Amino acid sequence: MATNAMKHALLPQELIRLKRDNQPLPAEEIKGFVQGIADERISDAQIGAFTMAVFLNGMSREEVVALTTATRDSGHVMQWRDMNLPGPIVDKHSTGGVGDLVSLVLGPWVAACGAFVPMISGRGLGHTGGTLDKLESIPGYDPYPAPERFREVVKATGVAIIGQTGDLAPADKRIYGVRDVTATVESIPLITASILGKKLASGLDALVMDVKVGSGAFMPTPEKSRELAKSIANVATQAGTPTTALLTDMSQPLAPCAGNAVEIVETLALLRGERPNSRVMQVTRELAVEMLIAGKLAGSREEALTQLEKALTSGAAAEVFARMVRELGGPSDFMERSEHYLAKADVIKPVYAEQLGNSPQTVQRIDTRAVGMSVVELGGGRLRNDASVDHSVGFTDIVEIGENVDSQRPIAFVHARSDAAAERAAEQLRAAFTIGEGTASADTLLQDTFRGEAL
Ligand code: URA
Repeated sequence: MATNAMKHALLPQELIRLKRDNQPLPAEEIKGFVQGIADERISDAQIGAFTMAVFLNGMSREEVVALTTATRDSGHVMQWRDMNLPGPIVDKHSTGGVGDLVSLVLGPWVAACGAFVPMISGRGLGHTGGTLDKLESIPGYDPYPAPERFREVVKATGVAIIGQTGDLAPADKRIYGVRDVTATVESIPLITASILGKKLASGLDALVMDVKVGSGAFMPTPEKSRELAKSIANVATQAGTPTTALLTDMSQPLAPCAGNAVEIVETLALLRGERPNSRVMQVTRELAVEMLIAGKLAGSREEALTQLEKALTSGAAAEVFARMVRELGGPSDFMERSEHYLAKADVIKPVYAEQLGNSPQTVQRIDTRAVGMSVVELGGGRLRNDASVDHSVGFTDIVEIGENVDSQRPIAFVHARSDAAAERAAEQLRAAFTIGEGTASADTLLQDTFRGEAL
């Protein structure tokens, strides 16, 4: 810390003034400021003034790189070299969505191809589901193993999906807390540094980012999603971790289900190779290809696809998932007897669309955010940080845009605690679906790819 204090010279208010007046910030000054946030020398008021100045005036690429690396280095940065792992350390991050169970399939799948995936995941946030909440549907699964145990599981299994601990990027915890109450969340430089500061602290050789576009996306417009994807790919690459960002469609739930246990059921089916061409598998496969190429496990897209196909059809990917669950405290026969372990809702009912005329009715549009919020209201997500989650609730068999519905074909099945909760969720789901005459087609699933470039 003494070294940091010597290298930077500005008082916090001087650094804030520079950004307020749109002057460039030297990297060493950003580093000192972030270190001051981590060790609490800098007040919440100063963080708030700084984030507002960044929100209003933006940051240059160099400044975002400095903010990112300083956030990463504000706590423990994992090292893997001493373990001599026979493959690359790679990971994926997503801006989150509804029915987005990609991580659960992707981690084991690329691990089965020789990668090592130390995946730090989050809980549900707003309308988006959380990978950790889904994994906690599995009785005994421990998302907070001791750090050494985490490393052992990654080594033995190839993948471990766990929760964020306080010693990774602690500066971001303070910065995000202040942004949340100072209207400064929606800033591309701050989002970039926040996401990457945490992700890069797990000591990665390469990263793949899934940035969502559409009615269930975190970013409010396609342009903003695109801007974030570019920013993340370039900043991470310049910070030393080669990164590719994919822009993918979230204008409808990615899998045909949304919730916790119901998404685990779907994950197992996908890992068994049961729906290789579903939308969620297409996105997962594209991310996996990028991870295998970035990790130098495949020399080309074709080679990556061949390896992935083999890992799925041989059962290797499913076996890696089973082993991860076992190593992290879950049942040893989870794959064989998952229905015995996963919570089931008391009420499971079809939800039919209203106002069906005589001609065929087609799903035209879905308000995906509203579908996610309905899962939260059912109890499958959190309205408050400290609330618990009901793993049994959610929706299954959700129809896609362009599919027909009628009095025989429901738009989904609702899984709820009670008839009243099921009825409320059914109303919300009907309101989230626009049904009409005429054909409709879904947006393109994979909209763009950004490979990071260092300046
Ligand atoms: N997720 C994060 O981790 N940080 C942000 O700033 C936004 C989303």
